[in-house]
Amino acid sequence: GGTFTNNDGCFTCTCADGWAGALCNEAVSELASGKPVKQSTTYYSSSANFAVDGNKGTDFSVHKCACTNVGDLFPWWSVDLQAVYNITSVRIINRGKDSSGIDVAARLRYVNVTVGQTESDVNTPCGFFDGPGTASQLVVIDCPSSPQGRFVKISAETEYLTLCEVEVFGF
Ligand SMILES: *[C@@H]1O[C@H](CO)[C@@H](O)[C@H](O)[C@H]1NC(C)=O
Ligand SMILES: *[C@@H]1O[C@H](CO)[C@@H](O)[C@H](O)[C@H]1NC(C)=O
Repeated sequence: GGTFTNNDGCFTCTCADGWAGALCNEAVSELASGKPVKQSTTYYSSSANFAVDGNKGTDFSVHKCACTNVGDLFPWWSVDLQAVYNITSVRIINRGKDSSGIDVAARLRYVNVTVGQTESDVNTPCGFFDGPGTASQLVVIDCPSSPQGRFVKISAETEYLTLCEVEVFGF
């Protein structure tokens, strides 16, 4: 289903949704669900695994979202995919307005997605989201170079990195 463009003896492919690679022959799938995760700090019981638990609700006070703690100004969250993949995109579901009407969705900003082969070196740039995020926004961060790695890290320059759900796509 991809589109192939001929340019003088060479060609480039634009892949249909769900496919990647130079020939669009790599099936893309979601890789993070239920995998081991960590985050730099944890706000009360808002543990890192709530970002990969399949619960996509965005009301922080009702649904379960991962969140880093007060005072952590360079927070991060990471997932171990348990095998090496080429990463094509990362999707983050941002928190929404809570039942009391409070909207702090704009805290999601300067979000840097990186990948790496080992847990101690997750520094290959994948994609970036400037923000600020909006309530319940589905933030899609594409990784144009499809870098390879086993670990995917989401770092931000903001207090309280809140992730209601994270999906990592690759092949
Ligand atoms: C997968 O990643 C490796 C290493 O970054 C790269 O050399 C290779 O071209 C990528 N594969 C595809 C199909 O993009
Ligand atoms: C994201 O982090 C990587 C690794 O630390 C760094 O090389 C890259 O410049 C950062 N990207 C942005 C846009 O800040």
